[in-house]
Amino acid sequence: MTTRNATFSIIILAAGQGTRMKSGLPKVLHEIGAKPLLEHVVVKARKLQPHQIYVVYGHGGEKVKNRLSALPVQWIEQAQQLGTGHAVNQAIPLIPDDHIVMVLYGDVPLVSETTLRSLAAASVKALGAVTCELTEPYGYGRIVRDAQQRVVRVVEEKDATPEQRAIREINAGIIAAPAVLLRSWLAALDNKNANGEYYLTDVIAKAVAQGVEVKTVAAAGMQEILGVNTKAQLAELEREYQWLQAQQLMAQGVTLRDPRRLDVRGEISVGKDVVIDVNVVLEGRVELGDRTYIGPNNILREVVVANDVTIKPNCIIEEARLGAGCEIGPFARIRPATVLAEKVHIGNFVELKKSDVGPGSKINHLSYVGDTTVGSGVNVGAGTITCNYDGANKFRTIIGDNAFIGSDTQLIAPVEIGAGATIGAGSTITQNTPPNELTLSRVKQVTVKGWKRPVKKKPE
Ligand code: UD1
Ligand code: CA
Repeated sequence: MTTRNATFSIIILAAGQGTRMKSGLPKVLHEIGAKPLLEHVVVKARKLQPHQIYVVYGHGGEKVKNRLSALPVQWIEQAQQLGTGHAVNQAIPLIPDDHIVMVLYGDVPLVSETTLRSLAAASVKALGAVTCELTEPYGYGRIVRDAQQRVVRVVEEKDATPEQRAIREINAGIIAAPAVLLRSWLAALDNKNANGEYYLTDVIAKAVAQGVEVKTVAAAGMQEILGVNTKAQLAELEREYQWLQAQQLMAQGVTLRDPRRLDVRGEISVGKDVVIDVNVVLEGRVELGDRTYIGPNNILREVVVANDVTIKPNCIIEEARLGAGCEIGPFARIRPATVLAEKVHIGNFVELKKSDVGPGSKINHLSYVGDTTVGSGVNVGAGTITCNYDGANKFRTIIGDNAFIGSDTQLIAPVEIGAGATIGAGSTITQNTPPNELTLSRVKQVTVKGWKRPVKKKPE
């Protein structure tokens, strides 16, 4: 159980339109790692166990609320976007005087928990602000310091003098302060600036004027403070995020052939000695057992993999469980609700759907097996099709233990193949077949003596 900090509140600003994204989607719903920007920030905020998280929403607000309704936050509308200071002012009346308030931006998703904890510690009787030295500070608010290196104020790009624009220390936008102080500073904001907005950043000059210390917390890396204003920045952050995922996996002992060529779009858990080759995409919840090998060009979504499984190149595996020692691919497609027992072999150009396959069974070439229960030790020959659909309804196929299905067989469901049965190649099986017997359905092979191929007629 985590205990919440009873006197700590977080406000996340998410009302901006994001016009530069050139999109119908509100900015904070754009995704990195297949998760909306705002959700990343909320997940980060929750790690600090605040008493409450307030999200200030505005532009496209209903879309944001609908998409993220499961998040444990209190939604607060900012009907008109009059600036970041105005946005914080919508939430501040709800926060008791004795709280510390932290303000996060819904479009700055990669700030680290460590930085935020330092910020919280810095803001007990002071105003804390996250900063960063950038070689290209264009667009960010700059931290203006006096001769003694004390923070004086933040100046926005548009309002800055050429000398101020040369300052490389920037404001990440993330601040924290005692609620009682923040409330008074916000009440005194004006919008006399180049944008005609109420800037949250102006509270820094207010604190200085009041003699309240301003403590800066340097972000550990530039990715922490990167904001998303354009599609190019979204793409850049996606890569930063993926790099962090790859670092985490390697720290857990995973061998990545190229950490730049892996995409994680969900929650991954790994055993020992997992090896992942290039161009792999892992989506949703993926569990990889000890010694899993994933070859190049594989996509796994919602998959549980037991120990010692080999997945050869170019497979797509979704909502499936792979038993210990299975060998999959190359070029296999495993669709939802498929469960493979241990040591199953699924080879090239095989599609499985809603099927259970028993221990040691093999479906190695060019087959469709859907709505099927396959026993143990079964061999399904090349080109076998379970005909599970009559155009209106779906039916199940059952294949008993140790059955042998000859190549190019159609099994017309519902149908059951007895244990140990053999089906002759090229059969169309419409009725249940007895165990341990050979069943086949073919016309007898005949040779038509003296038959001649047709020849082309000559025009008259
Ligand atoms: C802001 C800071 C700047 C800082 C930069 C860091 C101000 C005035 N400037 O600039 O010093 O370097 O972030 O990324 O704060 N929002 C609202 N309501 C509004 C306006 C904005 O909720 O009325 C939200 C936006 O959705 C966004 C955040 O506040 O999540 C920041 O707003 P944005 O317009 O992106 O500020 P910047 O110009 O980037
Ligand atoms: Ca921004």
